[in-house]
Amino acid sequence: MGVFSFHRGSRTATTHEALPVSAAGASPANKRRWSNLMPFVVALVVIAEISFLGKLDLANKAAFVDSWTELFAPSSMAGRDDLGLAGNDDLGLLSCEEWLEREDAVEYSRDFGKEPVLVTGDEKDWKSCSVGCQFGGNSARKPDASFGLANQDGTASVLRSMESAQYYAENNINNARRKGYNIIMTTSLSSDVPVGYFSWAEYDIMAPMQPKTEKALAAAFISNCGARNFRLQALEALEKANIKIDSYGGCHRNRDGKVDKVQTLKRYKFSLAFENSNEEDYVTEKYFQSLVAGTIPVVVGPPNIEDFSPGLGSILYIKELSDVESVAKTMKELADNPEAFNQSLRWKYEGPSDSFKALVDMAAVHSSCRLCIHLATKIREKEESSLEFKRRPCKCTRGSGVVYHLYVRERGRFEMESIFIRSGNLTLEAFESLVLTKFKSQKHVPIWKQERPEVLRGRDDFKIYKIYPVGLTQRQALYTFRYNGDADFRSHVESNPCAKFEVIFV
Ligand SMILES: *[C@@H]1O[C@H](CO)[C@@H](O)[C@H](O)[C@H]1NC(C)=O
Ligand SMILES: *[C@@H]1O[C@H](CO)[C@@H](O)[C@H](O)[C@H]1NC(C)=O
Repeated sequence: MGVFSFHRGSRTATTHEALPVSAAGASPANKRRWSNLMPFVVALVVIAEISFLGKLDLANKAAFVDSWTELFAPSSMAGRDDLGLAGNDDLGLLSCEEWLEREDAVEYSRDFGKEPVLVTGDEKDWKSCSVGCQFGGNSARKPDASFGLANQDGTASVLRSMESAQYYAENNINNARRKGYNIIMTTSLSSDVPVGYFSWAEYDIMAPMQPKTEKALAAAFISNCGARNFRLQALEALEKANIKIDSYGGCHRNRDGKVDKVQTLKRYKFSLAFENSNEEDYVTEKYFQSLVAGTIPVVVGPPNIEDFSPGLGSILYIKELSDVESVAKTMKELADNPEAFNQSLRWKYEGPSDSFKALVDMAAVHSSCRLCIHLATKIREKEESSLEFKRRPCKCTRGSGVVYHLYVRERGRFEMESIFIRSGNLTLEAFESLVLTKFKSQKHVPIWKQERPEVLRGRDDFKIYKIYPVGLTQRQALYTFRYNGDADFRSHVESNPCAKFEVIFV
């Protein structure tokens, strides 16, 4: 079909991530953003989408695995209580921890070090990946996954595209699942393995700022005037509202377009980061380049653009055309008030928010490696549903207390660490403290350490940003999932023997 040809850097010249594009020549999308709370500025739109997933919706994910193949059948962790938990008669002198370490350790049949996850695609070994990960077409082995619809059992079908689903309906997650894709990799943080336009390596986000020397308030680089959202009208409305705009793109051009975009943006107070579609999580280089340049992005684009904001009050969002008037007013106020303007760019001096770091850190691990981790995790889960694994005790009773065996890994890594937590101590706070203590005692180096800009690496310190069950999407992990208190956490641990978690450090 040729749908999965890989156009490296078709969007940005020096893409850190491979940029697989589902079809050539699509133009970037327009999106929206909402404005931030400035001391004296009214927030335009606040879309606080806080959905509490009281319960873990792992069933959702299992559904697609179901339709996969034998190999990738969903693991069933239920119904284990009647298996092997009879007792710890052989505890002897061992502590519960030692006993669980021994009893719960079951050999997996596949050693990914010797038999890496295999994905058809451009020949490549992802040496730095935390699980054996190999891409290539001519192995004698059957691949674990292939791009496009796989035609053999046991091989997962992967859809990978960075185009907006508003232009390429096949990229819509539900459509893709219906078509038979097992693993979806799109810009959506709800996809199985998100591929974003952002990474620390690709954008020098903490680059120092330059004086704003241009007369015009804003710069625009918009080449496709015919986007499916209202970005052209927004541009016109801003001009009508007396915002002076230097336009370097094909749309309303009044400046020579043959310039270095980021260097040019640096001279302006505002940058019109207008995507070509208003789709959740669809945020392209227009936005990230504005951050690099240290201009305030005025966004038309995804309704959840605030999730991508580096700090409170650092972006302006035109949710709908009727917002233009108040956004224009805010732009003028900020331009006339150096202190307030500087305040909007505070994150450039003080560093971005933890939530921004947690988002961008995701891309510290290449999406191809994240795909391998995803596959390897599924393969292990499948094996864990076998009888041998179901016999693992996963908890140990001594006296009146129970010790639960939990597993935790850092996001972006594959191997798990054991955490033991006592029934009398089964709270989120205790859990986080145990996890942090464990990783610190191992002198753990966070996965983003080498990737982040120097100024954001910190010393040897890190803290927990989020802990969530393995299997959640990044949208859930970063924004929507929260245990509904200790009781919810406790019930999760009790009903998921040897429960597995992922932790995001910042
Ligand atoms: C802007 O604020 C930062 C601190 O957030 C300060 O270091 C800098 O000097 C300020 N710049 C101006 C022009 O006020
Ligand atoms: C409970 O957990 C905390 C960690 O938050 C730990 O310091 C403490 O020793 C634990 N108490 C028991 C009884 O295990």
